[in-house]
Amino acid sequence: MTRSPNAPRPLAAGNWKMNGLFPAGAEVESLVGRVKTDTPACDILICPPATLIRPFAGAWGQRGIAFGGQDCHFAEKGAHTGDISAEMIKDAGGDYVIVGHSERRTFYGEGDEMVSHKAAAAHRAGIIAIVCVGETLEERDAGKAIDIVSQQVDFSLPTLSTGANTVVAYEPVWAIGTGRTPSNEDIATMHAAIRSRLTARFGAGEGGQFRILYGGSVKPANAKEILGLPDVDGALVGGASLLARDFDAILDAYRG
Ligand code: PGA
Repeated sequence: MTRSPNAPRPLAAGNWKMNGLFPAGAEVESLVGRVKTDTPACDILICPPATLIRPFAGAWGQRGIAFGGQDCHFAEKGAHTGDISAEMIKDAGGDYVIVGHSERRTFYGEGDEMVSHKAAAAHRAGIIAIVCVGETLEERDAGKAIDIVSQQVDFSLPTLSTGANTVVAYEPVWAIGTGRTPSNEDIATMHAAIRSRLTARFGAGEGGQFRILYGGSVKPANAKEILGLPDVDGALVGGASLLARDFDAILDAYRG
C-alpha cells in the first residue's frame, strides 16, 4: 500500500468489547506468533476487557502488540463504583483507551462533553485516547452525517489533543456489528471532512498527524480496499479482532 511519507503510521486496533476470558490469551499468543515473522507497517493494538489488560500486557506487551482499555472514568480516583480510571489502565500496562464508543454513547448516555473529559483523562494519565465518532442511519438518511460527525469531532476532542495523544475513529453506528459498510466514496468523503476539521482546529501540520481510523464491519474481505482509501490511517475492528486468524488477515492490508 502506498502512503504519503508525511502520513502518520497506521494503527490496527481490536476492540474485544465484553468478550474474552483468560484462556482467550491463546489468540493473542497466536497473533504474536504471526506478526513477528512478517512485521506489518502499522501499530497493533488489542483492547480486551479491563480484567485482561494486566495479564496480556505482562505476557505480550514487549512483543509488538500494545494493549488498551475500552472506556475510562474522567476522574483519577474516587467514589465511582464499578468504574476504572485512565491511570488504572496505564498501571495495568495499557497504552491506549477507547472513549465515546457508540455503545457507550447509546447505552450510557455519554455525550461529547463527557467524551472530551474522558479523552482529557487519558492525556492526564499519559495514554492515547481513541475518540469514536459516527452518525446513526437516520442522520445519514437525512443527509446530516457530515454535520453530525464534524460536530462530534469539534466537541469530543479536548483542547490539548495532538496527533501523538489522540486518534479519531469514524464508526458509523449503523455499520457496527451489522456487516454493512458505507461505500468507499462515503468513507473517503467523511475522513476528508474529519481531517479538515482537525487541521482547522489544530493547524495544518498537527492536524495532519492525527490518525483517523475507520470502524464498522471491517473484515478480511474488505480491509484492503478500505485501508487503502485516502485519510484512512487504520481500522478499529470489533468482531473480526477476536480470532487471531481474522485479525492477522486484516493486517495483511499493510504487508507488501
Ligand atoms: P465491528 O465493531 O467490527 O464488529 O463492526 C466495530 C466497533 O464497534 O468498534
